[in-house]
Amino acid sequence: MLNDRPDRLGGYPFHRLTRLLSAIEPPAGLAPLVMSVGEPQLPVPALAIETLHRNDALWNKYPPMAGTPELREAIAGWLTRRYHLPATMIDPARHVAPLVGTREGLMQLALAVVPTQKNGKPPRVCLPNPFYHVYAGAAAYSGAELGLVPTSRSTGFLPDLDALDAKLLDQTALFYLCSPSNPQGTVADIAYFKRLIGLARTHDFVLAVDECYAEIYDGAAPIGALEACRELGGSLDHVVVLHSLSKRSSVPGLRSGFAAGDADVIKALLRVMDYGGGGMPLPVQATATALWQDEAHVEAVRQVYAENFRIAERILGNRFGFYRPAGGFFLWLDVGDGVEAAASLWREGAVRTLPGAYLAEDAPGGNPGAAYLRVALVHPPETTETGLRRLAQILS
Ligand SMILES: Cc1ncc(COP(=O)(O)O)c(C=O)c1O
Repeated sequence: MLNDRPDRLGGYPFHRLTRLLSAIEPPAGLAPLVMSVGEPQLPVPALAIETLHRNDALWNKYPPMAGTPELREAIAGWLTRRYHLPATMIDPARHVAPLVGTREGLMQLALAVVPTQKNGKPPRVCLPNPFYHVYAGAAAYSGAELGLVPTSRSTGFLPDLDALDAKLLDQTALFYLCSPSNPQGTVADIAYFKRLIGLARTHDFVLAVDECYAEIYDGAAPIGALEACRELGGSLDHVVVLHSLSKRSSVPGLRSGFAAGDADVIKALLRVMDYGGGGMPLPVQATATALWQDEAHVEAVRQVYAENFRIAERILGNRFGFYRPAGGFFLWLDVGDGVEAAASLWREGAVRTLPGAYLAEDAPGGNPGAAYLRVALVHPPETTETGLRRLAQILS
């Protein structure tokens, strides 16, 4: 009676975490601290609240699935400024689709592009291992084979392009890349992007680059796949990038992001949304328009995460393989056994963290996330410091 395709996945990470921790009693006197979820806990920008309220009268309208022209133009303008693109490279009418959060778009993208067969074989969706769980879910629900591409410290935690088999790439319909990556915070460089875009074009698959952490950085602004497209002549063929306001503007509850890229893919995505998309409410579209046009609130958000990483560096030093990621707000700590560490942190310190094994699938060399723990530095600095002090003390 039920769709059994997701049964081949290892399980939804947060359900697995609940199962692990529900059997453990945290200490009664300590306030629980949630550092397992990548949900920004910073105040909602005043610009978001004001714009939302100013557009209250629009709640009585169904929203246009393709977005208002104002929102599409604001997105194209932001992409052009952020990635130093020629003014005509992004056509707001053809290259942009608003999303009710990138999460839903990642799933809808698979439904939009994975065919029943690719070159006479079952279609394949490639994704890094470890990965953001929605990529695997989207692959499974679309009926594709799961093409897990190994990542490791030696590949800079990016999918190892040398490990890709040309025949399997011919079967590939969609390749998810995350940059800055969740969980490791790695940013692909221009040569990497160019090589992967070249493979997408040669083997005719869609490259979906999840860049939802692109605005959370401490040093140089992470480059994006569109910059590689620009350097390759400006065509967006076979490439789609996904962005979100959830992390950039600390509004994960607003449910607002977008996909931009190859006009045929955007059209196919909008067709799926016509049938099964909720649509972004008009007051939210107006708010998103204002937020994509503003940088001041983003700079303030970035300062908070930078301070969190300074605190982490001070408390963790060179323990647990600590490093400051190039992007995003996660620590990816090498603790030996992530499941054991997550259990101890909850039992002794009431701190919830996520075992790396839950973000990866078993591979021939074992589960590549098994030794790691993902810690989300999403709280204001004071709370972050409390959580990290408890963590350092318990795991030492
Ligand atoms: C890598 C990655 N992609 C996408 C998302 C989804 O973000 P949203 O749907 O809020 O835009 C998340 C959220 O944690 C994420 O970590």
